Amino acid sequence: MNKLLRPIRSFVHRQKKLSKAQQQAFLTLSHQKDVSLLNFKKLFRREAYTVLEIGFGMGDSLLQQAMLYPENNYLGIEVHRPGIALLLTQIEKFKLNNLKVFYADATEILAHSFPKHSLDLIQIFFPDPWPKTRHHKRRLIQPKFIELLHEKLKLNGKLHLATDWENYAQHMLKTLENSSQWQNTIGKNQFTPRPLSRPLTKFENRGQQLGHEIWDLIFFTL
Ligand SMILES: C[S@@+](CC[C@H](N)C(=O)[O-])C[C@H]1O[C@@H](n2cnc3c(N)ncnc32)[C@H](O)[C@@H]1O
Repeated sequence: MNKLLRPIRSFVHRQKKLSKAQQQAFLTLSHQKDVSLLNFKKLFRREAYTVLEIGFGMGDSLLQQAMLYPENNYLGIEVHRPGIALLLTQIEKFKLNNLKVFYADATEILAHSFPKHSLDLIQIFFPDPWPKTRHHKRRLIQPKFIELLHEKLKLNGKLHLATDWENYAQHMLKTLENSSQWQNTIGKNQFTPRPLSRPLTKFENRGQQLGHEIWDLIFFTL
């Protein structure tokens, strides 16, 4: 592809090679490669409160939540193949029917394969902060992307973000507050105290060890 036409990605592939076991998990367990329009009722064989996590990393939060709340449906999107392979093996090990995983760029699969107004909650925990100013355009949370998220959430659906980068937290808050499509659940221009429902993830743990503060934001769609 022409360099000028290449899309700006919110990620770089951290590990290119998969171990034998990871490759095996990918081949035998990744059953969600079809990117036609998804039908959640068919996928889960039931209708239920449906949660999507974008950029689940090693899958800590999704695995815990899917096990704790079997009444909910969980979907995860990632591009980090070792994380996907690990989560797939956990799904198999614990026989979880309420968790499905997609290997895709969230911006693409959401736009093309997720039905409008189909999700109850979208969570994005510790998205890549891209701290250098010249890289800020790579950050996932941008006006256009939250418009896409809004389109996929039901009315009064929720978006839950968390980050350990103050500058990104302020950017998230400003981006959401500046849009007429969202309302802050806690009150204008405020961060939400860490909800107990959010499990600890690898990147939150890393942030805490570095002495970083954590910022949560929960908005609902108008
Ligand atoms: C900093 S890590 C955080 C992982 C996990 N949420 C945690 O808290 O440990 C950000 C993750 O987002 C994923 N990611 C970034 N952009 C993405 C995209 N466009 N689609 C899917 N995943 C993406 C990366 O591969 C990476 O695993």
